[in-house]
Amino acid sequence: MRRAIIGGTGFYEIVGGEFIEKVVHTPYGDALVHEGEGEHSGLIFLARHGKDHTIPPHRINYRANLKALEIQKVESILAVFTVGSLRPTIPPKSLVLLDQFLDFTSGREATFFDGGRSGLAHAEVNQPYCSALRKRLIGIANSRNMHLIEWGTYVCTNGPRFETPAEIRMFAALGGDVVGMTGVPEVSLARELGIHYAAIAIPVNWGAGLETSISIVREGMDELRASVIRLCTEGLQGFEQGAGDCECRTALMVMHPADGV
Ligand code: HPA
Repeated sequence: MRRAIIGGTGFYEIVGGEFIEKVVHTPYGDALVHEGEGEHSGLIFLARHGKDHTIPPHRINYRANLKALEIQKVESILAVFTVGSLRPTIPPKSLVLLDQFLDFTSGREATFFDGGRSGLAHAEVNQPYCSALRKRLIGIANSRNMHLIEWGTYVCTNGPRFETPAEIRMFAALGGDVVGMTGVPEVSLARELGIHYAAIAIPVNWGAGLETSISIVREGMDELRASVIRLCTEGLQGFEQGAGDCECRTALMVMHPADGV
């Protein structure tokens, strides 16, 4: 089973790994991926913001990225996001295994099923993040004494601005735990393609208004990033056994199939 890691801010490569850069052409545009060799054979790394962090959240070509991974025969994805925290119980540098999201984005290309030749389908997202992949990550984290918060609701804003303190209070009141700008529509596009997808969010600051100004934590982040990547590579390796005990392949209600897109 081929597998992928999608990295967000701060994750531009898998340090120490041997990877070959490759442009994948898709009907939605090109995507840049890094294909693993040697010990990382079968693993693809994709830097969501580009390798030099030049693509802002609202300009990421989410459809090209996900389609490129499908073209590369990827069947499972772990996504990593840096976020702001909405809760005193989730301090910066926590690891949050997401289980729900709230979508506050607008104007993004959010589906492969645009009607007409593209077909028409509705993705069910009762469990937006693959339950089998989540279970596997929890097991690995426990066996390593790594503290992984097992539940978290991700609020996705459009960005690129940060939130107002009033928005942060509203998101927390609505049940959000962390806030970021890139988790949606990546998660639901993976579901449309039937790719197993789970995500870890790493708060790097308190949400706006929880401190006098937004202050991004940098100390100790290199080590934390390396341990998250190790968790992800191990989580994806050998995942085939767990795949199937989840809803990822069955949660698409197709009303009209796509016509070769
Ligand atoms: N808000 C939105 N996105 C973010 C934040 C934040 O506070 N921190 C990191 N990504």
